[in-house]
Amino acid sequence: MSRVARALGNSLPDALWEFLCGRDLAARMGQAILIATTDAEGWPHPAMLSYGEVVALDRHRLRLAVYRTSRTSGNRRDHVRPRAPASGGAPGLAGRGRRPAEGCMRLVVGISGSSGAIYGIRLLEVLRGVPDVETHLIISAAAKRTILEETDYSIKNVEALATQVYDNRDIGAALASGSFRTEGMIIAPCSIKTVSALANCYAETLICRAGDVTLKEGRPLVVVARETPLHLGHLRQLLALAELGAVILPPMPAFYNRPKTLDDIINHTVGRILDRFGIPHGLTREWTGTHPPRHQPS
Ligand SMILES: Cc1cc2nc3c(=O)[nH]c(=O)nc-3n(C[C@H](O)[C@H](O)[C@H](O)COP(=O)(O)O)c2cc1C
Repeated sequence: MSRVARALGNSLPDALWEFLCGRDLAARMGQAILIATTDAEGWPHPAMLSYGEVVALDRHRLRLAVYRTSRTSGNRRDHVRPRAPASGGAPGLAGRGRRPAEGCMRLVVGISGSSGAIYGIRLLEVLRGVPDVETHLIISAAAKRTILEETDYSIKNVEALATQVYDNRDIGAALASGSFRTEGMIIAPCSIKTVSALANCYAETLICRAGDVTLKEGRPLVVVARETPLHLGHLRQLLALAELGAVILPPMPAFYNRPKTLDDIINHTVGRILDRFGIPHGLTREWTGTHPPRHQPS
């Protein structure tokens, strides 16, 4: 896999993207895809997957449906996923000595002070139930206010959902260094102030520094930016942040799944966040088209 990645670069070429993005699923059913991984000695190990079991989540990430205990999974864990750093963090930084268990996914979660604290909280609740995921949480001072203002959670309750909690003022924490390996970061919700700081590399707080580190290391940064209406200045900052590589994922409800409760609406956005990291969930149903179409074009 890593040899393929080296040959292709870190982005799927158009033809491969078109083939794997799942757009034409029905037409391609029955097709098989041969993948090859290498074991610790460098021996190739071929495996055959069905078309729908290899899906491009975006231009940079493929999701493979393989058994956790299979040789393919083992080879991928050993050779593709970044290994835990020897010390678990940069020398002299907080968090030293913590290493994720083999195959464990470290995710940084920032909650900043825009409305919608429940998005970050629900995300932590869901991730808590996902095996092999560590959450590293930073809550801004403003978010501590919105959590109390908007929800029945105490700050302690929210912090208890995370694997590890950091002080937003602690710019020397492990998350401030790219050498502390993570699979990426989510800021949910994200205020315009934090969007602006990230777009301008103004890393004064740990949330902003960790976000900046995530971008510089080429890891996914998902920004659940919340404000409305948006003036030109907001839009410019969002554009600048998208240009730096962040995924702008505003908490916008969809109605095609007929949400019935507020939870349905919250879960929809959280499900879309998890999709970006290839984490399976049952929060949303995949849209498979109308069966049969409710409205026939006249
Ligand atoms: C109840 C409440 C709701 C807020 N909602 C928003 C919002 O939706 N979007 C936003 O950008 N700022 C919002 N703010 C303002 C931010 O909290 C403020 O700009 C703060 O400085 C953001 O800091 P932070 O990004 O470090 O968390 C809200 C503040 C409060 C108290």
